[in-house]
Amino acid sequence: MARPLVAHIDLDALRHNYRLACELAPNSRSVAVLKADAYGHGAARCAQALQDEAPAFAVAAIEEAVQLRKAGIEAPIVLLEGIFSPDELELVDELGLWMAIHSPWQLEAALAHHPRHPIPVWLKVDSGMHRLGFAPQDAEAAWQRLREAPDRVTDLHLMSHFATADLGDFEYFRRQHAVLQTLAERLDAPLCLANSPTVLSHPEAHGDWNRPGVMLYGSDPLELSCDASRRLRPVMSLRTEIIAVRELASGEPVGYGGRFITPDRSRIGVVACGYGDGYDRHAIDGTPVLVDGQRTTIAGKVSMDMLTVDLTHLPDAGIGSEVVMWGTSRHGSELSVDEVARYCDTISYTLLTGVLPRVPRRYNDAHSA
Ligand SMILES: Cc1ncc(COP(=O)(O)O)c(C=O)c1O
Repeated sequence: MARPLVAHIDLDALRHNYRLACELAPNSRSVAVLKADAYGHGAARCAQALQDEAPAFAVAAIEEAVQLRKAGIEAPIVLLEGIFSPDELELVDELGLWMAIHSPWQLEAALAHHPRHPIPVWLKVDSGMHRLGFAPQDAEAAWQRLREAPDRVTDLHLMSHFATADLGDFEYFRRQHAVLQTLAERLDAPLCLANSPTVLSHPEAHGDWNRPGVMLYGSDPLELSCDASRRLRPVMSLRTEIIAVRELASGEPVGYGGRFITPDRSRIGVVACGYGDGYDRHAIDGTPVLVDGQRTTIAGKVSMDMLTVDLTHLPDAGIGSEVVMWGTSRHGSELSVDEVARYCDTISYTLLTGVLPRVPRRYNDAHSA
């Protein structure tokens, strides 16, 4: 007996999605982005599932890389934001990590450090995202200084991040890409540019390396889906059950603040899942869920440990019925996390990374069974 809420993680689907990223970019190597605990899916288990195929992994910070090394992951791990203080360089060297350099202080620290083995470096250029990276006019000098220090750094690449690769309007994407192409040609530099939307819909920006993240977990980041993105398979299925049912007359308010008012005689199901599990409290009435594989909707505000759904048109549903918040149902139907995110006025990334530790992860891995 246990609370029925479980995040089921399908590692075969993860491998399928990773292979799709590789298939779409046959001339690139694809680093699997596992930051934020593999977008909430469990970084160690996801790395283990991909370690026979992925030549490298990427995380945001050294603490995440340490966890992967502790889990026995031996492949290169890239620190996408590089070091946060110079004293991390010792560990970068010891653990054989690769790192981004996005700021002058990181450049100086790397050049002042004497590693046992030169550290592979991705020099980050701000081509228009205006978050991290050297301005294009400063990147050239930084690149030359790195090139002159082969005992400190090696395997240099230019890295950049696109601000609008997911949008249907390609104009700003093209401007960023043009900046990078010009710089790469001048420096004769290999590139690592592509996040998931770029992998899926901008083959012209595939580089020596790509950096797919959210697509590995089966979410389609594109504003306008394409044939490739429709081939993604959901990795996380957040499943739970109905734990109580209320029969209510017309006009009855449901839940905190009485936001939902029953329009007719209604059957309301109480579901074991709430914002204390990471389910988004911004979910509006009408947000879809699957009950026994059939679509119905949230009715009333999300509480900490529970939420309420409309069962009026599902007379067979009752206590113990399966409820899928997103992902696949045992009954075969599917509810995409991207669709749920739209009802919460957010993106799949926040829903997936937001599933809290109290929700057990259960891994289904036919590969290692
Ligand atoms: C630097 C960098 N590269 C790659 C990614 C992966 O992006 P996505 O999940 O959109 O594929 C991210 C994610 O935020 C990132 O910050």
